[in-house]
Amino acid sequence: MLLRALKSIVARILGFPIKMMTRLNKRPRFEAISIELSGKEIYSIRSIGPGDENKLHEFRNKLSDEAKSLFEGHHWDFRSLRRVVASSVKGDDLRLGAFDKSGQLVGYAFLQNYWAAVPVLGIAILDSLQNKGLGRGLMRCLLVEAIKANKRLVRLTVIKDNARAIGLYQKYGFKIIGQTADEKQREYHVMSLDLKEAVLE
Ligand SMILES: CC(C)(COP(=O)(O)OP(=O)(O)OC[C@H]1O[C@@H](n2cnc3c(N)ncnc32)[C@H](O)[C@@H]1OP(=O)(O)O)[C@@H](O)C(=O)NCCC(=O)NCCS
Repeated sequence: MLLRALKSIVARILGFPIKMMTRLNKRPRFEAISIELSGKEIYSIRSIGPGDENKLHEFRNKLSDEAKSLFEGHHWDFRSLRRVVASSVKGDDLRLGAFDKSGQLVGYAFLQNYWAAVPVLGIAILDSLQNKGLGRGLMRCLLVEAIKANKRLVRLTVIKDNARAIGLYQKYGFKIIGQTADEKQREYHVMSLDLKEAVLE
């Protein structure tokens, strides 16, 4: 109550709408962490930040054609990447990267439209590092942050024959709630997770 009144006074003095003040307070602030995979390799997971456009561009170029076709995520030209990085810095989206010791981006996951009722999840790992637990690490980070921010639902679409991704999502409690298709007639499951039912081992 007191906080609300205070916010309203500060908002009025600064000339911001109260809604904007509330949003500034709610920006996702992901604390960087390190994770160790079974092979003893150590990766750090942190928010995508200023200057990461090149790393994102290299990451996309290193994905196999198959991975590219499974994960579009967003546009990858530099103009779009600048918007993507800005959305992470501003806190409109929660975008996390997994980086190896040399600073190379090897995994990327996001909750797009973080402040919408239902943010949309995307994830990809470089082919050479798939199946080692990095996807699980990034998923866990995203979902823990979303739970901390009192989000209720997360949604995604996944190509129907992408068994590995579907297996990963089901592990965390995602359920198939519908289907859709793209302009190339490829069929997708629509999956949704009620964060109250998320399975975080
Ligand atoms: C899907 C993807 C993100 C998973 O990341 P990853 O690092 O390879 O996955 P992890 O090793 O962390 O986790 C694998 C989990 O997926 C599931 N899984 C793996 N292979 C599977 C298969 N063939 N069938 C069903 N589930 C499978 C299991 O639940 C497994 O967990 P477990 O090892 O505890 O059993 C990654 O493979 C990838 O980038 N693929 C290409 C792009 C893509 O498909 N993105 C998703 C678009 S919707």
